[in-house]
Amino acid sequence: MSAHPRVVSLPQAATDAVPRHVALVMDGNGRWARQRFMPRFFGHKAGVDALVRAVNLFAERGVEYLTVFAFSSENWKRPTEEVSGLMSLVLVAVSKYLGKLAGDGVRIRIVGDRSAVSDKLRQAWEQAEAQTRHNTRITLAVAFNYGGRWDIVQACRQALAEGIAPEAFDEAYLSSHMALSFAPDPDLFIRTGGEMRISNFVLWQAAYSELFFTECLWPDFGVREIDAALGAYAQRDRRFGGIRPPAVAQGA
Ligand code: IPE
Ligand code: IPE
Ligand code: MG
Repeated sequence: MSAHPRVVSLPQAATDAVPRHVALVMDGNGRWARQRFMPRFFGHKAGVDALVRAVNLFAERGVEYLTVFAFSSENWKRPTEEVSGLMSLVLVAVSKYLGKLAGDGVRIRIVGDRSAVSDKLRQAWEQAEAQTRHNTRITLAVAFNYGGRWDIVQACRQALAEGIAPEAFDEAYLSSHMALSFAPDPDLFIRTGGEMRISNFVLWQAAYSELFFTECLWPDFGVREIDAALGAYAQRDRRFGGIRPPAVAQGA
């Protein structure tokens, strides 16, 4: 084996200035409401408004895909009233905002296990997807009843059902069966609310995402925080396991 490490060539820019795909954990609604002596549901309602604002701001800055964590596989552990409140909030949000998002050029996709949600909610998702399918300004993927582990398992199940030979089963094959197969891997992973964990979000796809955590509670997330996150991203040096060749000295 050669003693010299192989220099992997990288794209010209360390980071393309704007991430193509942002994955976002919208956390902190409950604390935001508590700070205002209001029930948690009040925070979730404000969270929907914050999301509609954020989609447009990310689109204006050139982000092509925004994947937001709206309800995790584990959020069923919450009290029944909160879970049912969230389910009805989604229905209200679709009827309130679908027309606006469609008009703003947003393509909506839902990722997650739909089998556990009500028929009414499933129909609302289908309508949102159908009504926006030809939009091209930005894709908003709403992760609902989603878990990164669920996604890996459901992709493997499809592979097993297809009877793929073990030698043919590789990363590209698995990726093509994942719920987010229509999007490139997230370049930037943002979590609001101050916790520094992934909480079973895009586990497979975030292998090389740049991470950005902010104390800002989700309903307060606006233009300042978006620009802070995108600004931090633009400074990152993404190496993907390679190394950057030393800069050639001037005049050399
Ligand atoms: C995130 O806010 C929204 C959902 C998980 C649905 P939280 O409800 O987790 O708010 P905090 O973390 O309790 O403040
Ligand atoms: C992650 O937030 C899920 C969503 C934002 C939908 P949680 O509030 O559920 O995460 P943990 O429990 O603090 O890890
Ligand atoms: Mg939380």
